Order: sequence, then C-alpha cells, then structure tokens
Amino acid sequence: MNRKYRKTVIAGNWKMNMTLSETKAFAETLKPMLGKHKWCDVVLCVPYVDIPAAIRLFKDTRVVIGAQNLHFESNGAYTGEISAEMLKEIGVKYVIIGHSERRQYYNETDVTVNKKVHAALETGLKPIICVGETLEQRELGGTMEYISYQVKCALAGVASDQMRRIIIAYEPIWAIGTGKTATAEQAEEVCENIRTVIRKLHGARVARSVTIQYGGSMNAKNAYELLAQLDVDGGLIGGASLKPAELMEIINAANQE
Ligand code: PGA
Repeated sequence: MNRKYRKTVIAGNWKMNMTLSETKAFAETLKPMLGKHKWCDVVLCVPYVDIPAAIRLFKDTRVVIGAQNLHFESNGAYTGEISAEMLKEIGVKYVIIGHSERRQYYNETDVTVNKKVHAALETGLKPIICVGETLEQRELGGTMEYISYQVKCALAGVASDQMRRIIIAYEPIWAIGTGKTATAEQAEEVCENIRTVIRKLHGARVARSVTIQYGGSMNAKNAYELLAQLDVDGGLIGGASLKPAELMEIINAANQE
C-alpha cells in the first residue's frame, strides 16, 4: 500500500453465494463490527438480486456495493443480461470486469473485457478489472508478458483522466479458491509490473495513483503481509468475504499503520 498516492480498496466478491436472507444476516453481523476503517474503502460485489437490499442495509456505512459483471451494450435483445445504466440507476458504484471465472466459463475475451470497461466508465461505474495467469503460464515463465498483454487490452482506448476510476485486480488463476496464495513477493512483483505497464501508457503520475489489488485466497492470516507490499493496494476477496469476522480482519489489515 502507498496511501500517499492512492486509495486502498478491499472488495468482496461473493460470486454465486448468499440469498437475500443471508445477505441481511451478513449485514447485521458486519455492521456493528465496522469501525472507522478510515484508510480503506470497502466494496461488496454481490449477486444482482441482492444489490438493492445490500445498498439499503449498508446505506449509513462506508461500505459501497458493486456488481460482478455487466453487458457492454446499453440496452437491447440480450436475454438475461444487465447493463451499466441499470446498475448505475440503482446505486451501484463498482463493477468487476473480466474475472477469470467469466473468462473461463462464459467466453469472455480481452475484447469483451475492453468493451465492458468502456461501458462502465461512460456510465460512471468504477471497473475492477481482473487479470491473472494460469499455473502453466507461470511455470513456463510467461507471467509478466501475459499480464502485460491483458492489461494493455483491457485499457485500450482508455484516457489518462479516466485511469483514476479504474482498479486492476491481479488474480493468479492457480490461487483462486484453491487456498494456495501467491507469496507476498510474487504478488508484489506482478503488481509492480502492472504499474510499470500503466506508467508506459499514461505516465508516472497516473501510474502511481492507480489502485492495484491482489486476489486469490486472501484471508485474515495472509492479508497483513500481502497488503504490506508497496504496490498491493487492497484485495479482491472471494471465500473470505462471505464471513463477516474474517472480512473484518482483512479490513483491519488494510488499516495497519
Ligand atoms: P478467493 O476468490 O478469495 O475465494 O480465492 C478470489 C476471487 O476470485 O476474486
């Protein structure tokens, strides 16, 4: 983290978990635990159907609500899809774009990710863009090239003055939901590399202002060390964000002196 230049953001990604009643119970447990956490922003990316309730439940707190996906068109014959405008109008602030599960199971490509980034920015939503390598790519030594490519594709056509509203989440695919976390050094190395890519595209001032998260089995135990890295400005947290006490520990880790 480097709070002098950029925001620390802890974001939960609930994936396809939590019914409406479970969302209410979660909020009732988490809200009394929330202290001031003045140095980090907290986002909960919940299933679409839980969004209105989550916004209502966290209204008087610093927790804001995000979505996990969106369609890049603003409206039309796209059965089952949700647009940026729909999310914006009900009070959504952030949207996860290009999560590896979307890329893997729903054929999202670097091209659709880029279109979604533009749709989000034009509507005033803040994209959390996910990038990450497979274990095979890492073992072949191609991590940096691949991540650089993904970042460049996702950011194609994005103006420098839009970069402040973007979060990049580095999520090595081999660490997601596996309990296998990248070491703090591995996370820092890739996050630093992402900042270098942004520096080449938009200059040093923009690069140092962009929040870059780590994601992949971040939990209450490993969060302190990961977040202590200079270029790790927060986390995108799956499993551990479903448990209020564990999420709270991670928020506390993000507020460490
Ligand atoms: P995990 O998920 O924390 O359960 O590994 C992270 C993510 O997929 O965003």
